[in-house]
Amino acid sequence: MLNFEFKNPTKIIFGKGQIEKLGNEIPENAKVMMLYGGGSIKTNGIYEQVKNALSGFEVVEFSGIPANPEYEILMDALKIIKEKNITYMLAVGGGSVIDGVKFLSAAALYTGDTPWDILKNAIKTEKGLPFGTVLTLPATGSEMNSGAVITRKETQEKLAMGGPGLFPEFSILDPEVVKSIPERQLANGVADAYTHVLEQYMTYPIGALLQDRFSESILQTLIEIAPKIMKDPADYDAAANFMWSCTMALNGLIQKGVPTDWAVHAMGHELTALFGIDHARTLAVIAPSHYHYNFEAKKEKLAQYGKRVWNIQSGSTEEIAKAAIEKTVDFFHSLGIDTKLSDYTSAYEGTAEKVSERFTERGWLGLGEHKTLAPADAEKIVKMSY
Ligand code: NZQ
Ligand code: ZN
Repeated sequence: MLNFEFKNPTKIIFGKGQIEKLGNEIPENAKVMMLYGGGSIKTNGIYEQVKNALSGFEVVEFSGIPANPEYEILMDALKIIKEKNITYMLAVGGGSVIDGVKFLSAAALYTGDTPWDILKNAIKTEKGLPFGTVLTLPATGSEMNSGAVITRKETQEKLAMGGPGLFPEFSILDPEVVKSIPERQLANGVADAYTHVLEQYMTYPIGALLQDRFSESILQTLIEIAPKIMKDPADYDAAANFMWSCTMALNGLIQKGVPTDWAVHAMGHELTALFGIDHARTLAVIAPSHYHYNFEAKKEKLAQYGKRVWNIQSGSTEEIAKAAIEKTVDFFHSLGIDTKLSDYTSAYEGTAEKVSERFTERGWLGLGEHKTLAPADAEKIVKMSY
């Protein structure tokens, strides 16, 4: 097992009816900005619950943070934060709203000229403007981690940022919010969380028995609840397991002491930046090709996953590993998620070269658990995904 340090300061308040506790978590006299997305919270009752819980506070609202939080829109919010001397933010939404608030948390205290530099120059945020979240969509794990991914339409970029100052102070996880989530987003949530686990697991054996079993148990839970949640998002038990699995998939725990990959996300983010494809779907496009391309390096863990998660018991290591990739593709298909780039766009020619060029320009010359996946390899993987 590798050495590690682990600190996750986010307080989780989980369960039915917990949104009403919001007021206890925000400092008295805080000047609060409540941020949300395109309006789903106005039709599913979450808005009223949050507003009631905030009744004792001075609150400024900022709505309209789009899926794939957009830099220009966030810059409008930043202006208001500064003008109105906001001291606390509350994100009410999925990964996009929470990530947008993380960017604002960093940008509000940033002393440089252009906040985009936080992303471009990968500046770690040690201290941000404090914020909490009310999660409305299980998927990204953003509610309990310190990372964010921000989009800039103008330049077709989607870049990650983070730092120890960007953990939410608290996150309220009420599984009842799941019942209004459309099927497409439920499928996205399952596929995103599933791939988060794979990125932290599908590397090489390092003798971290507990981390492996944490990961396998999250994958098994997602496989078990996926059909239930897709059929009936009002199934509270399924929703609760779905929500907690998504959080646990990316709150830092399962990646401690083990090598991690994250190349699927790096390539996937480019597909969202270029074509606007939903984040989770880009992962389903890239992951199978990534595992085939890096088969030799990953076959031991692929086979362990095949045996323990998919119960494939017969065959050689190679055969089980190959069958495990197929099972993964079938799982994405069972969620109604297509796994080829050409399923999403007819303008895919040249994408692989563009991704490779961008990685080279950014100096991303060695991705993956061995830091050896070169831009030329990414080009081949993206091409295999057409
Ligand atoms: O905007 P509204 O109207 O609220 O609708 C949203 C949005 O259109 C809707 N929705 C959310 N909760 C709902 C609901 N509709 C009905 N009922 C509810 N309870 O769902 C749509 C998608 O929301 P979004 O927040 O974009 O989805 P998700 O949570 O999947 O977030 C995706 C973003 O997170 C980033 C992705 O790149 C992408 O930008 N990621 C963030 C990560 C992190 N911070 O750790 C890791 C991930 O790998 C990922 O990259
Ligand atoms: Zn993801």
